[in-house]
Amino acid sequence: MFTSSTHAIPETRAIPRHVAIIMDGNGRWAKQRFMPRIAGHRKGADAVRAAVRACAERGIEYLTLFAFSSENWRRPAEEVSMLKQLFRSALENEVAKLHENNIRLRVIGDIAAFGEDIVRLVREGEALTANNTRLTLTIAANYGGRWDLLQAVNRLVTEHPEKAGRYTEADLAPYLSMHYAPEPDLFIRTGGEQRISNFLLWQLAYTEFYFTDLLWPDFNAVALDKAIESYQRRERRFGRTSEQVAQAAREAAGASSVVELPDPRQKLAS
Ligand code: IPE
Ligand code: IPE
Ligand code: MG
Repeated sequence: MFTSSTHAIPETRAIPRHVAIIMDGNGRWAKQRFMPRIAGHRKGADAVRAAVRACAERGIEYLTLFAFSSENWRRPAEEVSMLKQLFRSALENEVAKLHENNIRLRVIGDIAAFGEDIVRLVREGEALTANNTRLTLTIAANYGGRWDLLQAVNRLVTEHPEKAGRYTEADLAPYLSMHYAPEPDLFIRTGGEQRISNFLLWQLAYTEFYFTDLLWPDFNAVALDKAIESYQRRERRFGRTSEQVAQAAREAAGASSVVELPDPRQKLAS
């Protein structure tokens, strides 16, 4: 079980452990080039490959990508159908490569709506890569933060009616779609909008937010490094004061230097 940021202070590292991204701006990228929206989505898929590689190289352990929201069904039927097709071919063509690179694939969201063939490809891909350890790549597809909370609450209440009125965060946690991952440290949204669009509502409670005007197809390793640099300048207080954060850092540094300093008596003897 991972630490809840509202119950305990998670460890802060220079490289975020979990990065969650809203990949926005594919349509505008295509429009700027007088191309159909789907061309932007195809280019966006290339940017996904680059982002996965860059995250693995930087030691990020979890990368979560918002690919299709529960509200994206409102788009024209043709675009929805092409996005589904793109998802299917990505599953067919990329899973073996993920596996070769020791990457674990997970998909969150109500994927039954995409049809049996996609569900089967997802389950096969997840099973094949289940024991990989380098990076966990999560694709959120037909995902909505409210859907996630509701499905979790409904299952919890059904399975544990005896605890009604006394549920805790720890009771709910295993039912949430991302129960296998720590909460995101860094949230990135490309495309210039500054909103969550029903992404990971519960899990983003103490996540650092980073917005960039870059359109998703233009997002690359350099852009990722900029986001990480911004993250490294943040002070993650988790409700504490600045002074308390500084004190905790001094204590952590002090504790490790006590262990690492050589014993002066040994120096005299040698
Ligand atoms: C994000 O790009 C991809 C999906 C939502 C599937 P958009 O398609 O939303 O691109 P814009 O926002 O219209 O530019
Ligand atoms: C959010 O992008 C969802 C995905 C990136 C999959 P949208 O483009 O759908 O978000 P809104 O509608 O502008 O908020
Ligand atoms: Mg958009």
